[in-house]
Amino acid sequence: MLLLGNNEVPMNYKGNPYPFRQDSSFLYFTGVQTPGFALIMDMDSGEDTLYGYDLTVDDIIWMGALPGVKDWAAVGGLTSTADFAQLEPALNAAQKSGRKVHILPPYRNDHKILLSRMLQIPIEELNSAASEALIRGIISLRSIKEEREIKQMEAALRTTHNIYLRVIKNALPGVKEQILAGLAEGMSIQEGGRLAYPAILSRDGQILHNHHHGHLLKDGDLVLADIGAEGPMGYASDITRTFPVGPTFTARQRDIYQIVLDAEVSSIDMLRPGITYKEVHLHAAHVITEGLKALGLMQGDSEEIVASGAHALFFPHGLGHMIGLDVHDMENLGEDYVGYSAEVRRSSQFGTAYLRLGRALETGFVLTVEPGIYFIPALIDQWKNEGRFRDFIRYEMVEQWRDFGGVRIEDNVLITSDGHRVLGPPIPKTIKEIEEVKMIPGTRRS
Ligand code: GLY
Ligand code: MN
Ligand code: MN
Repeated sequence: MLLLGNNEVPMNYKGNPYPFRQDSSFLYFTGVQTPGFALIMDMDSGEDTLYGYDLTVDDIIWMGALPGVKDWAAVGGLTSTADFAQLEPALNAAQKSGRKVHILPPYRNDHKILLSRMLQIPIEELNSAASEALIRGIISLRSIKEEREIKQMEAALRTTHNIYLRVIKNALPGVKEQILAGLAEGMSIQEGGRLAYPAILSRDGQILHNHHHGHLLKDGDLVLADIGAEGPMGYASDITRTFPVGPTFTARQRDIYQIVLDAEVSSIDMLRPGITYKEVHLHAAHVITEGLKALGLMQGDSEEIVASGAHALFFPHGLGHMIGLDVHDMENLGEDYVGYSAEVRRSSQFGTAYLRLGRALETGFVLTVEPGIYFIPALIDQWKNEGRFRDFIRYEMVEQWRDFGGVRIEDNVLITSDGHRVLGPPIPKTIKEIEEVKMIPGTRRS
């Protein structure tokens, strides 16, 4: 079995790379946190060999005396090491003796080129040449988090908790979104890590993966922030909070917020081993539908609405995903291998089709719960013009909300043998808790 560690990726020239991030499966097995390594696990002999470079004097002059291949091998409990130049001959020897080399589907271009050359497989065939046995084996290991992994995730969540307290307090009229995004990123670096994914922080909460931070915030705005620090060993956190720029939520903001909160809290309450996450997702869709009916935005039978998919005008994404060393854990290994099973297949219906995790939950899974309600003008216009779900959606009412933005609330939850545990220190979430953070003296500018 061959696992490639990641290499540096140039931003604009070779010597100016993007921040280094190790491949998560390689990290899981080796603990190696620097570029230029690979691991072969020989399943017949039981021998594992770490391939890498020892530092030259030139390297030491420019980068200092960083750990070499033997030092990293010791970190991962490996005894056999070899120079990276020996990797290709070792693979060729295995192939010549008729042995299969198990690889994962590559997602980085340099790995595609390297694998193609070393294994003599055309680049476009590498994905189908990836080993389903290796993919499934690694997913079965990484899906179940051990206690020491939970500790790492909770360390990440402590940083994320501190970030939210400061970001919510400082979301004031006259502050630009980028000040808050910079504050979050800076705090993660101050803790010795980075963010697990680019921060989403915008008054345009309806744009789901929005990385623009250019608005000047004003009283009456609602900010959606989706931010997660990475822990010291690379474990992710993934939290969303939505909060007002003014001292309190407006009446309309409260109405939508409370529906999303009810959907989030009641979905978390359902979590236990054996329940399928698809069922929990559909429950959240049901709560959102009931709430929107009460506000006059939808009408009809809630069961029929959720079965039809009409709620996805307002809740167009999945309820959550696995989280671990990756924020969308193991997504590079194949979303359906991670999140679905022979019993639970992915839906093809708009909205539910984006659900990354649908299968039955098991003790030791860690997942996100992240319902939301959004008013997406382009989607409203499209559905309205096509007359979609006219019996269920009161478009004349929806028009009055089209500039509202969006609300999402997201937490990270461990499945335990008798239920679940929300990980990390509690981050203000109820309307009262959030307004209290905004009231802490000395933080308001206006
Ligand atoms: N932060 C991306 C997500 O919530 O899935
Ligand atoms: Mn998120
Ligand atoms: Mn998420």
